[in-house]
Amino acid sequence: MNPDLFNDLVRSRRSTFPDQLEAGKKVDDEIIKEILINASWAPNHGKQEPWHFTVFSGEGLKKLATFQSELYKELAGENFKEITYSKLQQNPLKASHIIAIGMKRTNSKNIPEIEDVAAVSCAVQNLYLSVTAYGLGGYWTTGGVTYKEQAKEFFGLDEEDKLLGFFYIGHIAISSTGATRKPIEEKTTWINE
Ligand SMILES: Cc1cc2nc3c(=O)[nH]c(=O)nc-3n(C[C@H](O)[C@H](O)[C@H](O)COP(=O)(O)O)c2cc1C
Repeated sequence: MNPDLFNDLVRSRRSTFPDQLEAGKKVDDEIIKEILINASWAPNHGKQEPWHFTVFSGEGLKKLATFQSELYKELAGENFKEITYSKLQQNPLKASHIIAIGMKRTNSKNIPEIEDVAAVSCAVQNLYLSVTAYGLGGYWTTGGVTYKEQAKEFFGLDEEDKLLGFFYIGHIAISSTGATRKPIEEKTTWINE
């Protein structure tokens, strides 16, 4: 393991948003499978492995697009916005694969829910770092129907489970630029004595 390479990988990881992806260019399913294995090596309390991934590709992306846009339309009521509806319909078609990120509660060991959410979030970071290593683009979105109870069943989730969003993957057409982070000193307290 080369720490300098790893530091570069972590620090060069960027979100690549749907409009920055090369629409129609597919990522090999075998790469997606490797990336998912990496996700499953995330830390998790009590060996719960609380993630459940639903992978959409090909015609599956159209199914996701239709499902999420129609559910949005059904639930939005007077807040309905045409722009949101058409984004929910069109954005999935810009990706090669979309992974719906589920958190499944097994609750066999009284692990607090927040810890299962934390474990799934660690898995998503592994997705992010993996696509970076493969030179692909990815991004986590919690938009659309993410937090709608009525969405869960479509993704194989039960009432006690949570949908935590969607991870888009594709080839990069336009790279992200201009990311910044505050100096870590502003976010760290050291206690040495
Ligand atoms: C939990 C979570 C939810 C996010 N949801 C959205 C989202 O709904 N829409 C969006 O544009 N970006 C979303 N993002 C991605 C952030 O916009 C992105 O991480 C941020 O702009 C920093 O850019 P970077 O990832 O390139 O460092 C989300 C990120 C996280 C961690």
